[in-house]
Amino acid sequence: MVYVAIMGHGVVGSGVAEVLRKNAESIARKAGEGIEVRRILDLREFPDLPYADCFTKDFEEIVNDPDIRIVVETMGGLNPAYAFVKRCLEAGKSVVTSNKELVAAKGDELLALARKNNLNFLFEASVGGGIPILRPIDQCLAANEVYEIAGILNGTTNFMLTRMIEDGMSFEDALALAQQLGYAERDPSADIEGHDACRKICILASLAFGKHVYPAEVYTEGITKITSEDVRTAAAADSVIKLIGRAVLQEDGRLYATVAPTVISKSSLLSDVNDVFNGIMVRGDAIGDVVFYGRGAGKLPTASAVVADVIDEVKHLKARKYLFWEGGYEGYVIPHEEGTVQMLVRVADTADAAAKIAALGNVQMVEGDGVPAGDIAFITPVMTEAALDAALLASGLTVKSRLRVAQL
Ligand code: HSE
Repeated sequence: MVYVAIMGHGVVGSGVAEVLRKNAESIARKAGEGIEVRRILDLREFPDLPYADCFTKDFEEIVNDPDIRIVVETMGGLNPAYAFVKRCLEAGKSVVTSNKELVAAKGDELLALARKNNLNFLFEASVGGGIPILRPIDQCLAANEVYEIAGILNGTTNFMLTRMIEDGMSFEDALALAQQLGYAERDPSADIEGHDACRKICILASLAFGKHVYPAEVYTEGITKITSEDVRTAAAADSVIKLIGRAVLQEDGRLYATVAPTVISKSSLLSDVNDVFNGIMVRGDAIGDVVFYGRGAGKLPTASAVVADVIDEVKHLKARKYLFWEGGYEGYVIPHEEGTVQMLVRVADTADAAAKIAALGNVQMVEGDGVPAGDIAFITPVMTEAALDAALLASGLTVKSRLRVAQL
């Protein structure tokens, strides 16, 4: 029997406890040993649960129990999760976490600590919830030089954008509906400002390209400024707007990484990823494009990924298992202004607008009913963001919106 502890009995932690109990027999068969939850750390009381006697409010009871070999961290947030996970790894316990904030901020350090102590630190659930994505990148696609990852990494904003696209809802109404349905938190800023997607693209990029990408290095733009006019203009270009986290390896080995509302063609597989679903496209030199699709959040989908990591750690109690990246370095992630972009731009239709647009070079005009009356829309040539901003400024056009366009 292998004893585990769970830190945090919230949505995901309670799902982990539930799945470990409900599927105990098949899990034991797959792990080669039984797995039993010995302790659950939570400040709240759960007297009616069948495993009520497992609860403790004292982390020391977990870290000092030599029988506990694996600790699951589902508390979320950086503090005290970071200190607790570090102490567990220092105490010789392998760790599984679903905490993207922790992995995005401290993944390199915790992986190094796990490696030093011959332990495992796994976090499949931190990106894409129940979608297998980290293990496939690390193992199944290992033969490839991955050169780009792009994904719809946040279910709440994808639900909101879907309602704006399919039902013509405003941003405010879509947010209210997401909150009513329990998708968005009462404070929805981590979702709508793009921070949640940013943490996830940091983890994906760190794993795929081998160097830590820190959230502060990634240009992050949420969906709060997206209007119905933008949605309709994108539709006129036979495209949809999705919140895309993207990391592209540059020829010089550095990385371009952004999170931003992005216009993608309706012919892209990612354009059909709707509602709360996530979709992640990985581009490799041998495989071409692969897309992973599924439920990126929720109690049981996320618990499914956590428990799979626990099983993996039980099978590798004496040996370290894959998953590693180094620390990042200053300048590894290029300033977003240096990256090449193409934008869907909407400007006021003034008397001299057509001539000013033509002066920008080889633009593609966007025609059709979706473009609001009084506006003109066009897709710019590909150039650096700095050059594009300078050209738009110099043009004298009245820019109403500019959205990145990506060929995904
Ligand atoms: N708030 C997140 C989402 C939960 O909507 O995708 C999973 O990280």
